[in-house]
Amino acid sequence: MNSKKTAKLNIGNHELSLPIIEGSEKEKAIDITSLRQKTGYITFDPGYANTGSCKSDITFIDGEKGILRYRGYPIENLAGKVKFTDVAYLLLNGELPSLEQKSIFSKALRKEANLHEDMKRFFDGFPLNAHPMAILSSMVTALSAFNPVKTDNDDSINNTIIKILAKVKTIAAYSYRKYHGLPFIYPNPELNYIENFLHMMFSDSEDNFRTDRVLVDALDLLLILHADHEQNCSTSTVRMAGSSLSNVYGAVSSGISALWGPLHGGANQAVLEMLEMIKNDNSDYKKYIKLAKDKSSNFRLMGFGHRVYKNYDPRAKIISVEAEKVLNKLNINDPLLDIARELERVALEDEYFISRKLYPNVDFYSGIIYRAMGIPTNMFTVMFALGRLPGWLSHWKEMINSPDFRINRPRQVYKGQTKRNIK
Ligand code: CMC
Repeated sequence: MNSKKTAKLNIGNHELSLPIIEGSEKEKAIDITSLRQKTGYITFDPGYANTGSCKSDITFIDGEKGILRYRGYPIENLAGKVKFTDVAYLLLNGELPSLEQKSIFSKALRKEANLHEDMKRFFDGFPLNAHPMAILSSMVTALSAFNPVKTDNDDSINNTIIKILAKVKTIAAYSYRKYHGLPFIYPNPELNYIENFLHMMFSDSEDNFRTDRVLVDALDLLLILHADHEQNCSTSTVRMAGSSLSNVYGAVSSGISALWGPLHGGANQAVLEMLEMIKNDNSDYKKYIKLAKDKSSNFRLMGFGHRVYKNYDPRAKIISVEAEKVLNKLNINDPLLDIARELERVALEDEYFISRKLYPNVDFYSGIIYRAMGIPTNMFTVMFALGRLPGWLSHWKEMINSPDFRINRPRQVYKGQTKRNIK
């Protein structure tokens, strides 16, 4: 990864030679690790748009070309062709699982799916209208009280990861049951990861569980598309929190909290709310396009734009096609899909969106599928978290095993009062 090339930096009378690092896809970075020590200067990059925080082997994105690859596999190659649990295995271990590895992995996930009985009482303490993301992040931290955090060797790291993957799914389903005042349903060891999740969400005495292939396959696909996205806000948060060697449950919980924001994973809930608002306003989508361009309003077209993609988000392309298919298969005619299509059509022809390279992102159409599946709007970001979990855990694992590992601790440029004393 280290090339022989260097970059020259002139500060005052000093000329500093800084090493250039080249990634496997020819991305280039200037290594400034010696900058402050040699010059007293730091770099300034609010929002970290130009800052590489680590070297990583997990996910490659070319935002200009609209490319996303997990461990080298294009997202289009994985989506619909393998299972979400295979993708989780791939992200965590670098290779797709063999048949034997698949069976061991899914057996372990089934075995760890139950929560400690005492943990279930924690749910009683939340008010009925608690947001499922609040429950999810709290309960994931609480998991560490019931599961000893062992990360002293590869086996204990992998076992901890399995526990988190298996139990977060159960917590996610229970956060829905709690919100709706429904009894908790135990995981069924006969069912695979996705089926089990839908079973714990929706099974009841009349309707045993949702084995509907349309729903299972759609959810599998959506979770694959969300599984990793390199150093996004929540993944960087997991790395940041984990870099103090805090326990991994807490680090993942921090990631869940970061994901909740409407500029990140919370956008899927915000998109649906926006589409409903437009529908209730005579479906006047043009008014909202105008509003999104108006700098004096706080309104943004939710589900549009991305820090990295300056082209169509490849995940949104897949989801847009899938939304149509799922709605057709379920015989649903959702006016929100028509509004979304019109918003996209108008925005993509509008100079404001064209010049800023704003395209639909992963959250633009995902909510329409979740809604068709019977998943309520306030659960959408929980679904994102479930999908992103393997990514967070892969990055955490990569970080703690990295030879570059150090606690994350950025600097600042102080702009406050200079020294003063109380008079
Ligand atoms: N609607 C209207 N204008 C927008 C939008 C939008 N959705 N997104 C960006 N802009 C404008 C923004 O006002 C700015 O204009 P100007 O140059 O005139 O000041 C320009 O485009 C650049 O925007 P930015 O805020 O500097 O871009 P960023 O890279 O800091 O933010 C973003 C990226 C995703 C937070 C932003 O595009 C946004 O707020 N989008 C809506 C929320 C959303 O859909 N988030 C989900 C992201 S995808 C899921 C995930 O991985 O998190």
